Amino acid sequence: MMDKSLINTQVVFVERPSGALESKHFELRCQNIPEMSDNDVLVRNIYSSVEPYLRVLMTQDMANTKRFELNTVLPARVVGEVIRSRNSQFSEGEFVFGLLRWEEYSLVVGGKGLRKIDPGLAPLSAYTGVLGPSGLTAYVGMLEIGQPTAGEAVYVSAAAGAVGQLAGQLAKLKGARVVGSAGSDEKVGFLKSELGFDDAFNYKKTSDLTATLRGLFPNGIDLSFENVGGENLDAVLASIGIQARIVLCGTVSQYDSAIPTRLNNLTSLILKQGRILGFHVRFYEHRLPDVILQMSEWLRTGKIKYREHITQGIENGPAALIGILRGENIGKQILQIGEDRFAQSVK
Ligand SMILES: NC(=O)c1ccc[n+]([C@@H]2O[C@H](COP(=O)([O-])OP(=O)(O)OC[C@H]3O[C@@H](n4cnc5c(N)ncnc54)[C@H](OP(=O)(O)O)[C@@H]3O)[C@@H](O)[C@H]2O)c1
Repeated sequence: MMDKSLINTQVVFVERPSGALESKHFELRCQNIPEMSDNDVLVRNIYSSVEPYLRVLMTQDMANTKRFELNTVLPARVVGEVIRSRNSQFSEGEFVFGLLRWEEYSLVVGGKGLRKIDPGLAPLSAYTGVLGPSGLTAYVGMLEIGQPTAGEAVYVSAAAGAVGQLAGQLAKLKGARVVGSAGSDEKVGFLKSELGFDDAFNYKKTSDLTATLRGLFPNGIDLSFENVGGENLDAVLASIGIQARIVLCGTVSQYDSAIPTRLNNLTSLILKQGRILGFHVRFYEHRLPDVILQMSEWLRTGKIKYREHITQGIENGPAALIGILRGENIGKQILQIGEDRFAQSVK
């Protein structure tokens, strides 16, 4: 039996991309909500995180996660409001975060995976980014895996994006000298003027990335937070100092590309005794409550700043995802799916 009182608009993945992602790979579909069973929770989705890994899973498996099936609704990390509950753990009107779907309403069987969030601590949208997956990724990747120390020379790529904007500031908090790269002059200005990066450059205006990095890091890079991969990673390898660490967070330059970029400078890791340290945030999700407390304290005291790039409307989800693969976002790309009644009062 369907619940016919609500119409649910969903983003469905209908065609596998072989190069750049396009709107033809998606379709919008309207459905009724299935009937709820005991312990189920119905969530009105408000904000969805838009993340590059979605593009990866359209074509390949990632760790233990199988690539997306065609004609399925895309998964999404969502902040929403409980509007109906047959589960004693969740009450109507409470706000939750979970790995749900790109749709207006998500029926969560057994309430599985939902975590309550506090709308008084920060704006609801923050739980998709700085107090959610992006914040956790930056925190674990930079502070716990990279472990920057005072005076070290740190490089962050895709530095004006969701993770990069935080990773760079966290290294600054530890006293490192931080240089970021980004794909526009506006982003470079944001990094230097608003976030306090020591330096930043527009990689699209650089004809020789290795020469640029060697100029900015005359004694070599001590720690690189790698979000981009491909040519950027190769230039980093050619520019590292002795015993450098490269935290491999992502390789976004490769996701939309049909032909992977070959690395030519791996030998540098041997000669410089360097290390590449890969990690995935899914193995650190148990840390999120602690990271939320620490990050919200740094936000409150002005030690960390962040920017959000909010696209309105479920129908614009595909455009938002395509946009981050083209670098159209400054800060965290978020899709606003439903009304946020706190938006004015908290922000
Ligand atoms: N390891 C993990 O657990 C984990 C978790 C979350 C995210 N990640 C990774 O972290 C990275 C950043 O993710 P995010 O969510 O914060 O996204 P984001 O940085 O907000 O958005 C992606 C950015 O990548 C840059 N970009 C896109 N295509 C590029 C290309 N061909 N060459 C160079 N730069 C390109 C764009 O900025 P520009 O304008 O500067 O080009 C764009 O804004 C991604 O690689 C993602 O896969 C990893």
